[in-house]
Amino acid sequence: MAIREILEFPDPRLREVGEPVTVFDDSLRQLVEDMAETMYDAPGVGLAAPQIGVSKRIFVIDIAGEDEPSDLMVFINPEILSLDGTQQWEEGCLSFPGATETVKRAEHVRVRAQDAHGKAFELEADGLLAVAIQHENDHLNGVLMIDKLNPIKKRLFSRKVNQARA
Ligand code: NI
Repeated sequence: MAIREILEFPDPRLREVGEPVTVFDDSLRQLVEDMAETMYDAPGVGLAAPQIGVSKRIFVIDIAGEDEPSDLMVFINPEILSLDGTQQWEEGCLSFPGATETVKRAEHVRVRAQDAHGKAFELEADGLLAVAIQHENDHLNGVLMIDKLNPIKKRLFSRKVNQARA
C-alpha cells in the first residue's frame, strides 16, 4: 500500500475524463487500496482516481464518523441512474485543500457500479452519501466543485483556496 500524491486545482489532469476500467486484476485492487489509504491519510470522505493522476473511472468513499467503524465503499465504472430533489451541503475537496463552500446537489441518487472484483451492484443514497457520490462522480468527468458555484460564490471560494495556500 502506498499514499499517493493528491493533485490540486488547477492541475490540468483534474480536467481529464476518466477511462472505463476493463481489467479487474490485482493491480486494480492495489490501486483501489492506495486510493483508500490516501483518502484516510488526508483525511477525506471521498477520493477519485483522477485526483491522484490516474485517468480511470474509480472512486472511493467513506462517510463513517470519527467514532464509527470505517465503511469503505468502492465505485468502479459508476453510472448515475437517477437524481431527485435538491439539498445543499458545505462541501470540501482534497484538490482544494482548506476551503469549503455550499454546493447544491440532488437529495437522492441511484447509482450502479462495479466493485474491485468487477461485481455489479446498485445503491440508493441520500444526504451526505448522495452528495459524496455526485461529487466524486463529477471528478471522473473532469468536473470540479468550483464549476457548480454561481459567479459570486466562485469568487469567494477562489479567495478561500488562495488564503489556505498562502
Ligand atoms: Ni473532490
